[in-house]
Amino acid sequence: MAITLQDPLPEYFSELSPDETDRQLADCRDKLGNSVVVLGHHYQRDEIIKWADYRGDSLKLSQLAASNKHASYIVFCGVHFMAETADILTSPQQVVILPNLSAGCSMADMASIRQVEHAWSQVHSVVDHKVIPVTYVNSTAAIKAFVGKNGGACCTSSNAEQVISWAFKQGEKLMFFPDQHLGRNTSTALGVDPDSEMVLWDPMLPLGGNTSEGLRNAKVILWKGHCSVHARFNTQQITEARKNYPGVNIIVHPECSLEVVQAADFSGSTERIISTITNAAPGSVWGVGTEINLVNRLAHECPDRKIFCLDPVVCPCSTMYRIHPYYLLWSLHNILANEPSNIISVPEPTARDARLALDRMLML
Ligand code: 13P
Ligand code: SF4
Repeated sequence: MAITLQDPLPEYFSELSPDETDRQLADCRDKLGNSVVVLGHHYQRDEIIKWADYRGDSLKLSQLAASNKHASYIVFCGVHFMAETADILTSPQQVVILPNLSAGCSMADMASIRQVEHAWSQVHSVVDHKVIPVTYVNSTAAIKAFVGKNGGACCTSSNAEQVISWAFKQGEKLMFFPDQHLGRNTSTALGVDPDSEMVLWDPMLPLGGNTSEGLRNAKVILWKGHCSVHARFNTQQITEARKNYPGVNIIVHPECSLEVVQAADFSGSTERIISTITNAAPGSVWGVGTEINLVNRLAHECPDRKIFCLDPVVCPCSTMYRIHPYYLLWSLHNILANEPSNIISVPEPTARDARLALDRMLML
């Protein structure tokens, strides 16, 4: 998304004590009943999660929103691309609200639709093969629509393997946006050689920094994007964890680099990390490479296991963190006053084309 700045909140909200904020949040929730559903992404802070009707990863939350027939308002405590996805998948009568418009995703910001369109035409100026575009859901609705129109699909970190396998059945080459790491990790797991069969596309350079021959030979073209939270994890942290805790299990998110994923014992999406650790034996030890709010919550909810973040310096997702309880309260107040604010609405035909890419993913 283009960076959207949130207007400052009325002072009334920012001057409330935490207890008063909670009291008013409870009051608003009571008054609004099931006309509102509050969704909380796993990376949200506990002060938000406690008000969520559902918590989950981005896809699960959007699907929950789509299956909820009572709620007229969906308050999405997550980031902008997730609220867009929820709007695309929900019915036209349902209104999706993002409590703070500045809650974007730095990875999604690394690929603009103009850059993607330009890259696509440059690739096709040198390549004759059929190229299938795949986008991680962490991308703007405009990029999802571009992918939908060009015969491709979205993926999440839970289903990237299925989507990439599907894409290889549709064409000879794959162009993957915007997370190079998810694209590289998944393609490597499917047998594509990261050194000889993948190239990186830098949108700042002509031909993405590649030669025509390099592009013609590549099976996978990876967009040069990354997640600033998951880029903090490295193999030294894993070595250190193994030294300090013999027998430790290392699990990381596939937004981490290939060398980190290969040095770990397990890698998987947010939901997979949660299910692996919650189903693990009491007494087991887990070094985790993902966002700190999720790791701390797991440690709290599974006290008979030792669970710690591999990064000794705390690493919250700073944009997720912009959803403060004041913003949630302000959003609920505005709904009660019949003046809903921060509505996320993806216009047609973008929504229709983006739905094509999402539906292809959901059908797999
Ligand atoms: P999920 O799709 O697992 O919710 O992850 C989104 C994300 O932003 C991970 O960094
Ligand atoms: Fe984006 Fe990374 Fe935050 Fe996920 S953790 S929302 S990819 S910046």
